[in-house]
Amino acid sequence: MLAIDAREVAKTFRAGLIRRRETPALRGVSLTVERGAVFGLLGPNGAGKTTLLSILATLLTPDRGEVYVLGLDVRREADAVRRRLNMASGNASFLWNLRIPEILAFYGRLYGVHGATLRRRVDELIHTCELDAHRRVPYNELSTGLKQRLALAKSLLNEPELLFLDEPTLGLDPDVSARLRRHIASLRSERGMTIVLTTHYMREAEELCDEIAFIKAGQILARGTADQLKRQIAIGDVIAFRLDPGAGARLGEMTGVLRATPTSDGLECTVDSAEKRLPELLAALHGEGATVRGVAVREPQLEEVFVELAR
Ligand SMILES: Nc1ncnc2c1ncn2[C@@H]1O[C@H](COP(=O)(O)OP(=O)(O)OP(=O)(O)O)[C@@H](O)[C@H]1O
Ligand SMILES: [Mg+2]
Repeated sequence: MLAIDAREVAKTFRAGLIRRRETPALRGVSLTVERGAVFGLLGPNGAGKTTLLSILATLLTPDRGEVYVLGLDVRREADAVRRRLNMASGNASFLWNLRIPEILAFYGRLYGVHGATLRRRVDELIHTCELDAHRRVPYNELSTGLKQRLALAKSLLNEPELLFLDEPTLGLDPDVSARLRRHIASLRSERGMTIVLTTHYMREAEELCDEIAFIKAGQILARGTADQLKRQIAIGDVIAFRLDPGAGARLGEMTGVLRATPTSDGLECTVDSAEKRLPELLAALHGEGATVRGVAVREPQLEEVFVELAR
């Protein structure tokens, strides 16, 4: 069963009365997402991720293309679709002086939840989103992490089958983002929710998502599981060795080494997994008698992925 079936979706933003400006945000995007999946949209600024999510969530209408969400046509059956989905944005903002329970109750009523059911649901969400200690704090005094958790809590008020998360961990420290990611994962495992999220973070997509699509300049350039994409695009961890010139010349031929590029002070090896390959590479360097002056491991940058993809 498909949660999302979008075909050839296009959207151009038009602005300006005299000097008309046109921004093509989506140029024929086709995307399917299975029910119960966690799906990631990855891409640079301005790629069209938020536009796509907004169209899928019925907040924007496409210029062209067909979109079925939960088997319903987003244009003709928008109301029915809306009742069954929700969206939270990392950039969300709520009325500055309201407190968490008031904000949630307000949205709950908009979604048609009232009375004791509403009170119970608000309390549950405050609890599961770890907001208990902050009930009395006005919105504008909440930290970024708390605002993000509140946005998530708001998006769960109508018990959606399908949840869109636009950069859910934007601006969060690593510890808070890890907790939020666990929470997102549990929504799928415990409630069977389908989740489509956008992110700039490769690792986040890899950790959370069954499948990932790379979107750039309004087009999907590739899709697949993290492993499939890595194999396809040959992205991996980068291990930079500081070595004497010429040392490590044979590392590029070793298993798991996707690329070995000489640098000004050594060699950069792109490997499938740094954890797995670092000991082997160090052993090989040791074996050839090379002096290793330094080692640094870094995750591949999203940009590097796109450089590979755009070739
Ligand atoms: N309301 C709007 N009016 C005019 N142009 C817009 C509007 N919303 C988005 N755009 C443009 O459409 C393109 C896609 O924007 P979108 O917000 O979907 O990208 P994004 O992938 O979400 O980027 P980011 O990672 O920065 O959030 C951009 O060129 C953007 O400037
Ligand atoms: Mg965006």
